[in-house]
Amino acid sequence: MNSLMKLLASLLLFIFSFLIFGEIDVAESSSQNHPFSGRNKLFVFGDSYVDIGNTNTSDKGAWEYPYGITYPGKPSGRFSDGHISTDFLAQLLRIKLPVNYAKKDDVDMARLQYGMSFAYGGTGVFKTYANYSDMTAQINLFEQLLGNVYSPSDLSSSVALFSVAGNDYITFLAGNHTIFEKLLGIRPLIEKVVNQTEVNLRRIRSLGVKKIAIPSLSPLQYIPLFANSSNPIHYFQGPIKDLVKYHNDLLQKSVAKLNNESNDIDSPFTIIDYYNTFLAIFNNTGEIPGILPFPTPYIECLRDGKLCDDPRSAFFWDGIHLTQEGWKSVYKVLRKDIIAALMPKA
Ligand SMILES: *[C@@H]1O[C@H](CO)[C@@H](O)[C@H](O)[C@H]1NC(C)=O
Ligand SMILES: *[C@@H]1O[C@H](CO)[C@@H](O)[C@H](O)[C@H]1NC(C)=O
Ligand SMILES: *[C@@H]1O[C@H](CO)[C@@H](O)[C@H](O)[C@H]1NC(C)=O
Ligand SMILES: *[C@@H]1O[C@H](CO)[C@@H](O)[C@H](O)[C@H]1NC(C)=O
Ligand SMILES: *[C@@H]1O[C@H](CO)[C@@H](O)[C@H](O)[C@H]1NC(C)=O
Ligand SMILES: *[C@@H]1O[C@H](CO)[C@@H](O)[C@H](O)[C@H]1NC(C)=O
Ligand SMILES: *[C@@H]1O[C@H](CO)[C@@H](O)[C@H](O)[C@H]1NC(C)=O
Repeated sequence: MNSLMKLLASLLLFIFSFLIFGEIDVAESSSQNHPFSGRNKLFVFGDSYVDIGNTNTSDKGAWEYPYGITYPGKPSGRFSDGHISTDFLAQLLRIKLPVNYAKKDDVDMARLQYGMSFAYGGTGVFKTYANYSDMTAQINLFEQLLGNVYSPSDLSSSVALFSVAGNDYITFLAGNHTIFEKLLGIRPLIEKVVNQTEVNLRRIRSLGVKKIAIPSLSPLQYIPLFANSSNPIHYFQGPIKDLVKYHNDLLQKSVAKLNNESNDIDSPFTIIDYYNTFLAIFNNTGEIPGILPFPTPYIECLRDGKLCDDPRSAFFWDGIHLTQEGWKSVYKVLRKDIIAALMPKA
């Protein structure tokens, strides 16, 4: 009883804080004017790089202190100290934050007009850590809402964010296969993952979403999980560099093919270049305007359960995820490209 009350109280607090902070202007860049993107709904598919609160509140991870300590001041289900990519993309597009699928029955119908996030931390293109969901399952949930919650005309100015940040690879490399099997198996796995990504992307477009933004795989060799020599998976830091490049090359080809096969003048699919953006930020010693250098970019803020002095000085929040400041920098660098790519052409 007591714990149920606590759960309800924390849920209420979460919803309350969402109401207060949900529409806050997340990037200081709003003073640098940019035109309205012409997009009015954001649909989000993917993993913890984009999940803004769908995981079960009884799960550890994003629902525990000190997650959310910068924003909204308590855990919000985001895998970070604060805002993440989804917040910054929505802000760039001037769309209000989409509703979480998990909360869709708890909000006014009017809130659904900005889109929905199906993203769930831990998701891969295929089943990963848990067997609750994969990208296909998320698209199934979206499809079930079409015709009742969203009509075809609702989707005519919509954007999807489709994040596959590497869970398929991390679970494979951290799993029970021998090192030999892993080294041999990863390239075929990459081909399978990108092929299935292509299937997923084609499906989202065919369901009516107008524009689909797909972040490239980031340079995983530098995420603390791989960079820290104390982690067993560090063994793969060398190989992962080429494997990320292989993934991104295949992704590029798939996206070119998808755009070529669509009849739109306006290419529906666009890659957001996380790979080079992350590298440029790691390298930045002050030459990128408006972005402070991160003194130790490969070291996470939250280490061994301890928080660093200032999350704003860290790029990585934990072994895998970015801080709010990290995401903010990424979206500052990508701002012009994203606006240009997602603006309607006709
Ligand atoms: C969240 O997890 C709890 C405990 O495992 C479970 O009872 C509950 O049904 C889950 N909620 C949802 C929405 O899946
Ligand atoms: C995961 O799959 C196993 C075996 O298929 C099943 O017993 C279990 O209930 C599933 N768990 C969830 C959370 O769906
Ligand atoms: C990996 O091996 C351990 C020990 O043999 C076992 O307990 C675990 O269930 C295995 N995990 C998977 C995903 O097969
Ligand atoms: C991926 O798709 C390509 C092109 O359709 C095909 O040649 C290849 O065999 C597929 N690879 C896997 C592992 O499914
Ligand atoms: C590397 O990982 C170990 C074990 O988790 C941790 O104690 C250490 O602080 C980490 N080092 C860095 C530089 O992140
Ligand atoms: C684009 O599609 C056309 C016709 O289907 C085909 O001839 C051409 O090779 C394709 N180009 C690419 C880059 O896939
Ligand atoms: C980062 O710096 C290294 C070493 O100076 C250089 O080789 C590399 O090309 C730079 N990368 C980017 C993306 O700027």
